[in-house]
Amino acid sequence: MTQGPLELEDLPGVGPTTAEKLREAGFLSVENIATATSADLAETAEIGESTAKKMIRAAREMVDLAGFRTGKDVFEQRKEIRKLRTLVPELDGLLGGGLETQAITELYGEFGSGKSQIVHQMAVNVQLDEDAGGLNGSAIYIDTENTFRPERIEQMVHGLGIDADPADFLENIHVARAHTSDHQMLLVDSAKGRAAEMKESGRPVRLFIIDSLTSHFRSEYAGRGTLATRQQKLNRHLHELFKLIDENNAVGLVTNQVMSNPAVFFGDPTKPIGGNIVGHTATFRIYLRKSKGGKRIARLVDSPNLPEGEATFMVEEAGLKPC
Ligand SMILES: Nc1ncnc2c1ncn2[C@@H]1O[C@H](COP(=O)(O)OP(=O)(O)O)[C@@H](O)[C@H]1O
Ligand SMILES: [Mg+2]
Repeated sequence: MTQGPLELEDLPGVGPTTAEKLREAGFLSVENIATATSADLAETAEIGESTAKKMIRAAREMVDLAGFRTGKDVFEQRKEIRKLRTLVPELDGLLGGGLETQAITELYGEFGSGKSQIVHQMAVNVQLDEDAGGLNGSAIYIDTENTFRPERIEQMVHGLGIDADPADFLENIHVARAHTSDHQMLLVDSAKGRAAEMKESGRPVRLFIIDSLTSHFRSEYAGRGTLATRQQKLNRHLHELFKLIDENNAVGLVTNQVMSNPAVFFGDPTKPIGGNIVGHTATFRIYLRKSKGGKRIARLVDSPNLPEGEATFMVEEAGLKPC
């Protein structure tokens, strides 16, 4: 059984309006309520302090109940984890076998570093049988920069060198354009329904892509004063994505463009936007960069259970290939 994160609306007496007020004030989860002070909560939600106290008590009870699962439950769910292979042996080696389900992998790098090429390739590979490196599934692709290219999918299917019809592969990739960050967040909501339908169809969604996760957030929340709001929204967005992949035993794959800025002297000039929040939610982070002769280098950063390291690959007409 999978136990997704608790929602504010799961609390007694919290409807959509109160939940929205709470989220705007940064209370994003039941855990946040459980650790709030009643005065703070009363003011934020515009409720009496005794109601706030009740809410906190209820939140604590829920967290207690949900917070402990037997080791066996955790073990059972982790046994369901599958690996989706890139089919580039060096890259799969770096990833401990491939991209994990029940985890979000963040690809970050400069413009043209290969982020969208990788997500296209994974939308193809996820459809392959498990013994061929796939997950026998379909993909949902949220496209924020209009970079999804069906022609690329066709080329990559041909590039696999198997007897397969690219049209069948295109059928199993569900693409939605997101026009704003709010729209992007709503699409994750609609993806829930779509995924539930697909589960019945025998082609479950095993890959959720957001390419790019951060572009709308970056352009819409550009000013200094809006940084906190941006982080809260991104946090909530990732939280929703996490629930989705958890429920579907799917791979989460998001991209994040960074700019190398020679004017930055302190810290890492290629820090991804979204900073720590994206960093802490993503289970795996891969930094991509271009190298000589069309080579690409992928570096695994901050993995919970794999050593840091690098792998190289090529982007060819036929898709991702070993060097
Ligand atoms: N059909 C193709 N054949 C060979 N290389 C390609 C092809 N399409 C794209 N590429 C390579 O992929 C690069 C774009 O990578 P992309 O993943 O779109 O970048 P980003 O990281 O900005 O998403 C191009 O510069 C090119 O080198
Ligand atoms: Mg791209």
